[in-house]
Amino acid sequence: MKVLAVETSCDETAAAVVEDGRRVLSSVVSSQTDIHATFGGVVPEIASRAHLELVAPIVGEAMSRAQVGPTDLDAVAATIGPGLVGSLLVGASAAKAYAWSWDLPFVGVNHMEGHLHAAFLEDPGLSLPTVVLLVSGGHTMLISMEEGGGGSVEYRLLGETIDDAAGEAFDKVARFLGLGYPGGPAIDRLATTGSGDAIAFPRGLARQGFDFSFSGLKTSVVRYVRAHPEARLEDVAASFQEAVVDVLVQKTRRAAAETRAKAICIGGGVAANSSLRSRVQEVCAADGLAAFIPSRAMCTDNAAMIGATAWYRLRTDGPTPLSATVDPNLRLPLK
Ligand code: KG4
Ligand code: ZN
Repeated sequence: MKVLAVETSCDETAAAVVEDGRRVLSSVVSSQTDIHATFGGVVPEIASRAHLELVAPIVGEAMSRAQVGPTDLDAVAATIGPGLVGSLLVGASAAKAYAWSWDLPFVGVNHMEGHLHAAFLEDPGLSLPTVVLLVSGGHTMLISMEEGGGGSVEYRLLGETIDDAAGEAFDKVARFLGLGYPGGPAIDRLATTGSGDAIAFPRGLARQGFDFSFSGLKTSVVRYVRAHPEARLEDVAASFQEAVVDVLVQKTRRAAAETRAKAICIGGGVAANSSLRSRVQEVCAADGLAAFIPSRAMCTDNAAMIGATAWYRLRTDGPTPLSATVDPNLRLPLK
C-alpha cells in the first residue's frame, strides 16, 4: 500500500511517498528557515503563503522521485494538527483535494504521533514497551509506547513540560546570544568548542517526577551573561545545552527503569542534538536497553513520518472524512 503524505504544520513544506508504513520511496522537505530568519522566528502568515506556493511542486517532486502516478497510490494523508492553523489548512486542504480528485481515502494525521512513529521507519525491530522522549519546538513529552490489543499501539503520557518546550528554550537562548534562528543547531555547533561544565546552570525539576521546566534555565542564562559580559559564548552555549540534556536524559532513564521499558527512543527536532544523541546511546549501553535514535532528517519535521503513521491509522481506524477539520491544539490520543 502506497501513501502520499503532506506535512505543513510549521515552516517546512514536505511531501513523501511511503510504502506499507515502512519503505520510504521518496521524502522531500523544503525548509522556509531562510525566509523566517530575518524575523528571528516563524511568522505564521508568511509560512502559510510559502506553503501555498510550494505544496503542489513539492508533492509533484515527491511523486516523481518515487516514480508513482495517482493510480499507483492507495491513500493521501496530511498532518491535521497540532501546528499553525493557516499552515495546517494549506497542507490538509491540498491533500483532501488530491484524495477527492483521485478517488482515494484521506487520512488526517497527528503531527506528534508522526514523530513517535519516525523511529519505526528506520528501525522496524523497535520493541515495546519503549519510552519515547519527544522534544520539539512546541512540545517536550515523555511517553510510554505500549502494545494494545490486536497489533495496536497505545501511548501513556508520563510527563511533559510545565512551561517552555526544550526546542523553545534553545531558540530563545540562541536569540538572546545573537546566534540567529533556528537556535538549536546554532547552539549545538557552538557548544562543540565550549565546556559543558564551565557554568553550573540550574536543572529544573531534576529530581521530581517526569515533568520538565525550562523557563528558569532560560532566565538564569540571561542573568549570568548580563552579570558576566566577559564569559565565552561557547562556554555559555555548552553549559546551557548540558543543563537541558542532563535533565532530559536523567528523566528518560528513570522513566525507562520504572516502566520496565526494553528501549529508549528519541524524536522531534531537538533529538537532532549531538549531545542528547550521544548521552542517550551511553545510558542505553549502560542499562542494557536498545537505543532508537532516528537519523537527524527523520527527527526534524518531514512527511515520511506522516505517511508511516497514516498507514498504521488507516489499518486501525479507517479513513478520515473529508469534512474533518484541522486542529492547531490537537492532542495525542493517550491511554
Ligand atoms: O520537530 P521540529 O522540526 O518542529 C516542531 O515540530 O517544533 O523541531 C524544531 C525545534 C526547534 O526549536 C529547533 O531549534 C530544534 O528543534 N532543533 C535543535 C537541533 N536541531 C533542531 N535543538 C537542539 N539541537 C539541534 N541540533
Ligand atoms: Zn515536529
